[in-house]
Parts: sequence; structure tokens; C-alpha cells
Amino acid sequence: MTVRQALEEGVRLLDEFRTPVARLTAEVLLCHALGRERSYLYSHPEAELATAAGDDYHRFLVERAHGKPTQYITGHQEFYGRRFLVSPAVLIPRPETEHVIETALRLAPAPEAFIDVGCGSGAIAVTFQLECPSARAFGADISAPALELAATNAARLGAGVHFLQADLLEPVATASLDLVLSNPPYVPENDRQVLQREVRDYEPDVALYGGPTGVEIYQRLIEGAARVLKPSAWLIMEIGYQAEHRVRPMLSRWRNVTTIADLAGIPRVLAAQNQPAGPPP
Ligand SMILES: C[S@@+](CC[C@H](N)C(=O)[O-])C[C@H]1O[C@@H](n2cnc3c(N)ncnc32)[C@H](O)[C@@H]1O
Repeated sequence: MTVRQALEEGVRLLDEFRTPVARLTAEVLLCHALGRERSYLYSHPEAELATAAGDDYHRFLVERAHGKPTQYITGHQEFYGRRFLVSPAVLIPRPETEHVIETALRLAPAPEAFIDVGCGSGAIAVTFQLECPSARAFGADISAPALELAATNAARLGAGVHFLQADLLEPVATASLDLVLSNPPYVPENDRQVLQREVRDYEPDVALYGGPTGVEIYQRLIEGAARVLKPSAWLIMEIGYQAEHRVRPMLSRWRNVTTIADLAGIPRVLAAQNQPAGPPP
């Protein structure tokens, strides 16, 4: 079978299973099977596939057609211009989460020490450390396999991040940090059945569900951040769809509470500054 025929067969199979963006997906999976860049597909349409590559490609197509996300098949995802390894132990980093990085670079561009709570693949912790190389960086997660992958990503990308297994901010010393970043699990448990099957059946529950309504985890995160942040230091969190009106009131004792919308206009990030030093007014 040639490259051109393989692509046509792939698009047909993915279309049959109503897989979105069938052509692009077939191209990505064929490149992964061949170990080639996308340009190869168009410069060598008549090249014959070796049997092993053809078998791999077919297996990848079937996995994707049955719902497995492309990134769990190829094993990587771009985030903020860098390639992160991903596995079913971690959430696939989303483009919206780049707003957490952008907001942090704007509000707290030179922290001495920061933590990413619920670091998963390490997308936020590694990226922010590389953007602010003088910062002491920490990444915390409750999941040991996620921490293992985050450490691998940090090593591959040359980021100096200390990873720790923790329930939110529990082991972190009081008033020790200049910045807390987090994209916590925020899907309401009651929404499980309405999630896309790619998410529900493949991404880890611990990375998705934030309690019955999805916002329970923010209460603990905000209390923990108020304790570990230095006076006037920033907490920057990603929030779920339609969660702003439930999370923002939890920040009533914080200053300069700011909502940042994503490119679709959806409130996506909440930033807030801890109380200043000295007794409260
Ligand atoms: C939505 S994912 C975010 C992953 C990554 N930061 C990103 O943005 O792609 C949430 C992460 O929080 C972790 N997590 C869930 N509950 C936690 C807890 N109580 N303490 C620490 N981490 C937790 C999960 O294991 C998961 O890696």
C-alpha cells in the first residue's frame, strides 16, 4: 500500500466511525507510524509502506476510531510551543491552559519561588520555570505516575522543577511562596455522562472531577494558597465553564481579583492577590 492509499483508507475508516477531523488525524497517525514529518506524506505519496508501519498505522486508526485520544496514541502534546510527553496517567494539556502562563508572566513575572498545584504532565510548572529561569519551581500532584511523567518532561526540556507528592498544598511551609498556579480538576462529577467519550473513558478521573459540583476543590486550594503565599503574592487558577460565579465569591478576602477570558470569551482564569503584610484593615 502507498502513502496516498493509506491516507485514503484512514480517512474512510475514521469517517465511518464519525471521528472528528478525520484527514488531519489520519495524517498524524500515519506520520507517527512512519516516524516522519507531515511534509513527507505529500512529497512521497507513492512510497510503499513497510509491513510493520502499515500494521502500526492500522492499529492506531482502530484505537482512535474507538475513542482513544490521538495524543495518547502518539504520546505527546504541544504546550506553549514545547513538546510534552503524555500518557493515560495525565490530562492532555489544553491550549486554554496557556492563559495561566500568560497571566502569570503579566502579573508575577519574577517570582523567587512558585508552585504548580496538580501539575499532571508538568505543562505549567515546566513551562513557567523555563520562562522564569531564576525561579525556584515546585510541582505538586497527588498522583505518583503523573509526577513520574512530569519529572521526565522537566528533564527532557531542561527545566529545574522539584516535584512532590501532595494533597494540594498540605506539606508546603506557611508564607514561603511568591506565586501559586493551578489547573485543578474541575469537572462536576454529575457531568460524567455528558463528557466526550475521549475525555470520560480515557483521561484519568483524578485529573477531571473536582467534587459533586466541580468547585469543591477550589475552597481547599484557596485556603491553602492564602497560607503558603507571602503577603500580596498572586494565586492564579484555571476555572471550568460557568464556574466563575461560584469560585469568585470564595476570594472575598483577596485583593485585585481578576477574571481572564479565553479566546472564545469564556472566563477561564481567576487571579487574586493575597492580603498585604500587617494586621488586616
Ligand atoms: C486538570 S489536571 C491538570 C494537569 C496539568 N496541570 C495541566 O494543566 O495540564 C489536574 C491535576 O490535579 C491532580 N490532582 C487531583 N487532586 C489533587 C489533589 N487533591 N492534590 C494534588 N493534586 C491533585 C491530578 O492528578 C491532575 O494531575
